[in-house]
Amino acid sequence: MWNSQKAQSLLARANVLLQSDPTHRDPSIWENSEDFCPERFSHGRKTPPMSYIPFGGGPRACIGAAFGQAEERIGIVVRLLQTFASKPLNADKIHPHRGATLSRTPGGWM
Ligand code: HEM
Repeated sequence: MWNSQKAQSLLARANVLLQSDPTHRDPSIWENSEDFCPERFSHGRKTPPMSYIPFGGGPRACIGAAFGQAEERIGIVVRLLQTFASKPLNADKIHPHRGATLSRTPGGWM
């Protein structure tokens, strides 16, 4: 068992595996640590360094972290579109809008 209070020796070329789950559920770091609570990551909320490490950390952290999270967001949107039918509530008020890119007039509600 690892003792964080005491210096430890490692054999040269030893593999060290850090399990992220205990850190992600550590009640000394997270309020209601066992709860599913995405709000804890809401904008403006800071987490202590190395307290949330699904992509590892330090110089060998995952290089695909941003890509992986973008994929997850797309997956959620796809799932919502597959699960729910949607239609615009004010289709007559939505028109093409030429800005820096072509978009639609703001204010489209689904
Ligand atoms: C949700 C998706 C992903 C998760 C949870 C994940 C997680 C991780 C973790 C925990 C590590 C080890 C970091 C460490 O040793 O500290 C890692 C390394 C790595 N990941 Fe990911 N990863 C994801 C997606 C991706 C994607 C999409 C790519 C490439 C497109 C990728 C490429 C890599 C590479 C190349 C490394 C090795 C980095 C190194 O050793 O320098 N990962 N990833």
